[in-house]
Amino acid sequence: MPEKSAARVHDCDILELDRHHSRRKGDLSVVSGGHTVPFDVRRVYYLYDVPGGESRGGHAHRRLQQLIIAAAGSFTVTLDDGHLKRRFTLNRPYHALLVRPGIWRTIDDFSSGAVCLVLASDHYDEAEYLRRYSDFLSFRKEIEK
Ligand code: TYD
Repeated sequence: MPEKSAARVHDCDILELDRHHSRRKGDLSVVSGGHTVPFDVRRVYYLYDVPGGESRGGHAHRRLQQLIIAAAGSFTVTLDDGHLKRRFTLNRPYHALLVRPGIWRTIDDFSSGAVCLVLASDHYDEAEYLRRYSDFLSFRKEIEK
């Protein structure tokens, strides 16, 4: 059996963010590190102008946690823990997908004008990526021992 520390796809889910609605002026959603999300946000990046049919991601992180938000448009995130896959279609700016460490992700089906906003628990570190699926599976074996 996997250790508790080895997150599975069922430990990843969509969080509903606070929404402040003003009838004539639009909506505002809030992500507050340590409060609405279970980590402090150290880095924000976003994907945009992704050509139709393209796929992003295709990697896992050893330690990093992320929140993925469709700030505009829509796309599909597929999460994989080496045992099971789960697909999430993100199409609401107040939905944030929590991705735990050690989970392989791919993002595709980008709509025109989609903006994929990512809030991450740490700074960029290429050494922290698992970019080959075979390395990812070896890593999973190690953390599930
Ligand atoms: P990558 O994480 O591979 O993008 P995706 O998984 O969406 O396809 O990153 C693409 C490139 O951008 C890669 O050369 C690394 C660089 N990059 C940074 O320099 N800093 C960052 O914070 C991120 C996320 C990527």
